[in-house]
Amino acid sequence: WGQPLHLFESVLSTQDEARTLAEQQTAEGTLVIAEEQTAGRGRQGRPFFSPSGRGIWMSLVMRPTQPLQYMSQLTLLAAVAVCRALRNITQLDIGIKWPNDLLIDGRKVCGILIESAAEDGRVRYAIAGIGIDANLTAEDLPEHLQPIATSLRIESGQIIDRTVVVAEVISELETLYQLYAEEGFTPIAALWESMAISIGKSIQVHNAQGSLQGIAQGLGMNGELLLRLADDQVVPIYSGDIEF
Ligand code: BTN
Repeated sequence: WGQPLHLFESVLSTQDEARTLAEQQTAEGTLVIAEEQTAGRGRQGRPFFSPSGRGIWMSLVMRPTQPLQYMSQLTLLAAVAVCRALRNITQLDIGIKWPNDLLIDGRKVCGILIESAAEDGRVRYAIAGIGIDANLTAEDLPEHLQPIATSLRIESGQIIDRTVVVAEVISELETLYQLYAEEGFTPIAALWESMAISIGKSIQVHNAQGSLQGIAQGLGMNGELLLRLADDQVVPIYSGDIEF
């Protein structure tokens, strides 16, 4: 996007820095990157481990013209873009776990959080927060994350050039955002489904409404996950976590 890059040594969360800039009318494509986040956050209010110098902790300001109900499409678009970028660079077998975690062999290597500000159903801006475990070593991971998280370095055995990754992520995001503007969600959904690890599998969904078991069928028109229950009824899932 060729917009300013704001680089910080340490912040609470790059989401907050990007939000402040967005409120000051910064242009779409403005990027905030930090070496360390002391209060990095994930989906559903969870903390996101963001140690100094090891990862890519970044937030991108977007100004989508689509109404608010399309925000989940943007979430899925971001997952496709980052997955493509990381696959291009590392050749690793990276897949998407609904809605937008990136996994290698069942362990998380990247999380994405989209936060937006709206007025009268119109989106004023969206902040795409992307956290990539690039160069974490197994020793860097706290005990509770060791069984569930990994890094590009752990998986590839190579130190990752974070600048190259940031450039590739932005380039893929721009390409897909353009495709989305021109052709809508259909091609994005097809790409997402081709990279997803849950389609056709038996999964459990946990959200505020409770828990459900079924087979993940694919995406609906608004980016919701379609779950086929035991009685063959297909229900849309708009939010939550899945488990295999
Ligand atoms: C998740 O896995 O639930 C989403 C994690 C998103 C983490 C990124 S790191 C950059 C940006 N700043 C944050 O505080 N969160 C996002």
